[in-house]
Amino acid sequence: GEETPEEREFQDRIDRGEKIEPKEWMPAGYRKTLIRQISQHAHSEIVGQLPEGNWITRAPTLERKQILLAKVQDEAGHGLYLYSAAETLGISRDEMYEQLHSGKAKYSSIFNYPTLTWADMGAVGWLVDGAAIMNQVPLQRTSYGPYSRAMIRICKEESFHQRQGYHIMMKMARGTEAQREMAQDALNRFWYPALMMFGPSDANSVHSEQSMAWKIKINTNDELRQRFVNETVPQAEFLGLEVPDPDLAWNEEKGGYDFSQPDWDEFFEVLKGNGPCNKERLGARVKAWEDGAWFRDGLTAYAEKASARRAA
Ligand code: 3HC
Repeated sequence: GEETPEEREFQDRIDRGEKIEPKEWMPAGYRKTLIRQISQHAHSEIVGQLPEGNWITRAPTLERKQILLAKVQDEAGHGLYLYSAAETLGISRDEMYEQLHSGKAKYSSIFNYPTLTWADMGAVGWLVDGAAIMNQVPLQRTSYGPYSRAMIRICKEESFHQRQGYHIMMKMARGTEAQREMAQDALNRFWYPALMMFGPSDANSVHSEQSMAWKIKINTNDELRQRFVNETVPQAEFLGLEVPDPDLAWNEEKGGYDFSQPDWDEFFEVLKGNGPCNKERLGARVKAWEDGAWFRDGLTAYAEKASARRAA
C-alpha cells in the first residue's frame, strides 16, 4: 500500500543510521520480523547447548571440561540475553517458550545434527561458532538498539568459542593418526551443515530484501556464506585437513572461492522437523521445561506469599 508519513519518517531514520529503541514507533512488520529473528536466534542459543552438553561428561581432560562447561554456560547466557531483547518488543518469554516447545518456532538447523566424537567439539567451535560470528559481527550494526547492543557482547564471547574449537582441531589434526582421522571426519560431517546456517540462497530467501531495507539484516545470506568459505578454507589448509568439496577452487576474478552448495533439499527437510536429531533436541527442551515445573511453581508461590506478607 501507500507509504504513510510515519513510515517515511521511520525509513529516513533507518537510512540515517539511527537506532530504533523499544518505546518508539515502528511499523508492525518491523516489530514482527525482529521478534521472529531475535527469538529464533535465542532458541538457537538454548538448543545449541545440547550437542555440546553431550560431551561435558566425556571431555578428555579437566581443563577441556572446564572450558566446555564455560562455553555451554555462555550460550545459555546469550539465549537469556536475546529473550530479553525480544521482550522489549512486546512478546512474553512464556509465549516464546511455547512457540519453541510446540515446534512452531524455528531454531538454527545446525543443532539437529549429532555430535559423535570429541573432534566434533572442535568442529562445532571452529565451524558453527565461526559461521555464527560471521553472521553476528555485522548484526552489531543492526537497526534495533537492544539487539545491536546484545550482539556486541555476544560476539566477544563467540570469538573465544571459535578459537577454543580451532584449538581442539589443531590438537587433533596434529595428534595420532586416529585423532587426525577423527578431525577429518568431523570436518566432513559439519562442513555442509555449517554452510546451511546462513540460510537459503538469496533467490529463496523470503525475508532478506525487506530485512535489509530495515537494516535488520546487514548482508545477504549468500554474501556471508561466501565470506565464511573464504576465511575457513585457509584455516583448514593450515590444519592439514581437506574441505569435502571436490569443486572448491580459488577464483581470482571474484577474489573468493568457488564452492559447492549444500544439499538444499536436506536443509528444508531439517527445517520441517525431519533432521537426524530434531525430535531428540525438542524432546530434551520440553522435558527440561516440564521437569522444572515444580520449581517454577514453588518460586511463584513463595513470591506471592512474600508479597502478601509485605502487604499485611
Ligand atoms: N536454520 C533454521 N531456519 C532457517 C535457517 C537455518 N539455518 N536459515 C533460514 N531459516 C529460515 C528462516 O527463519 C525463515 O523461516 P521463517 O519465515 O519461518 O522464519 C526461512 O528459513 C527463510 O529464510 P530467510 O533467509 O528468508 O530468513 P531470514 O531473513 O530470517 O535469514 C538468518 C535467516 C540469516 C538465519 C537470519 O534470521 C539471521 O541472521 N538470524 C540471526 C542469527 C541467528 O539466528 N543465528 C543462529 C545461529 S546459531 C547461534 O547463534 C548459536 C551459537 O552459539 C553458535
